Amino acid sequence: MPSPFVDHPRKRIVRERWNTPTLRWLHERWGAKYVYLGLPGPEAHDIRLWREMIEQVFAFEVETESRGNPRENFEKLIYNLTLLDVPHTVYHGCLEDIVLWKEDLDGMEFKLDTFITLFNLDFCNAITGKVPTPDGRKCWRFEAIREMITVQRALYRVTGASRFVMLITAYDAFHRREMERFISRRDLASEIQTVVEREHAVKLPNSSLYRNTELLRLFMFDFLRAYLVGQNVKSFFLPAVRFIGRTEWSPMIHFCVVCAMESLESAHVVDEQSAGDFVGMGMVTAEDRGLTEGSPDPIALLTNSWVGR
Ligand SMILES: C[S@@+](CC[C@H](N)C(=O)[O-])C[C@H]1O[C@@H](n2cnc3c(N)ncnc32)[C@H](O)[C@@H]1O
Repeated sequence: MPSPFVDHPRKRIVRERWNTPTLRWLHERWGAKYVYLGLPGPEAHDIRLWREMIEQVFAFEVETESRGNPRENFEKLIYNLTLLDVPHTVYHGCLEDIVLWKEDLDGMEFKLDTFITLFNLDFCNAITGKVPTPDGRKCWRFEAIREMITVQRALYRVTGASRFVMLITAYDAFHRREMERFISRRDLASEIQTVVEREHAVKLPNSSLYRNTELLRLFMFDFLRAYLVGQNVKSFFLPAVRFIGRTEWSPMIHFCVVCAMESLESAHVVDEQSAGDFVGMGMVTAEDRGLTEGSPDPIALLTNSWVGR
């Protein structure tokens, strides 16, 4: 797969026309600057764009694959964050490894003591990929997200902060094994089940990575929401945005989920957004010049949900 990391018009459209209005609206509503955790990339385009809304950055950058200096992108990111004059901590290595092993490639301990209010998990790979864990087993990339939500739970107890937003971007394909498990479940919401049956009318091929954006968005909604509910986190998912990465070989899918952590002592959170609502929202497509005509306004969707109350 060619590297989809380089900035390009479709990515800019997602950042500027979908994320920026959403983040500005939440920032004004919450009356607070964001504590960012994510993958800004060496040029830190997102931090640059949202600089006035961000007060602190926790960033991760993997080793550079090309010959030469493997620390190049990591060092460039630190340089750019320093120029942007934003307080920052940059971890060297793969986010999933660092979150699960609690240490980066340079031996720096990963220990969050601040409640994160903006996650920008701009993964370049499939969400169903696996990474090794400290106990020897291999786990999903998703498990790192679950671990971070668990850490948020502990920080919520200390800080009282409760609201956060998660932006998640992944390669628009999934590993056949994981999808087979998903589509053979018998406890899916009926609206999801209907789509699964329709989409799955065609048998999954034998290749290990398979693309079906409709199934992937439902898979993401189902799993991520189950993790959030498990931690008593109320969520609202905006429609998924699909776009072609740097080349046609790198289709991507993007999610924006607004969350509010509730006390564990309170009754289990009620999913105010039904699976049917999410299925019915459909998807948005980002193209070179904008979002496809007729795309919904994210602010109108938020205003009409529990987030707007
Ligand atoms: C898509 S780019 C960042 C784009 C940026 N967030 C934006 O909005 O423009 C992702 C960056 O994160 C790095 N990266 C991708 N997956 C990673 C992972 N799992 N852990 C650490 N760094 C990762 C890549 O090397 C790349 O520089």
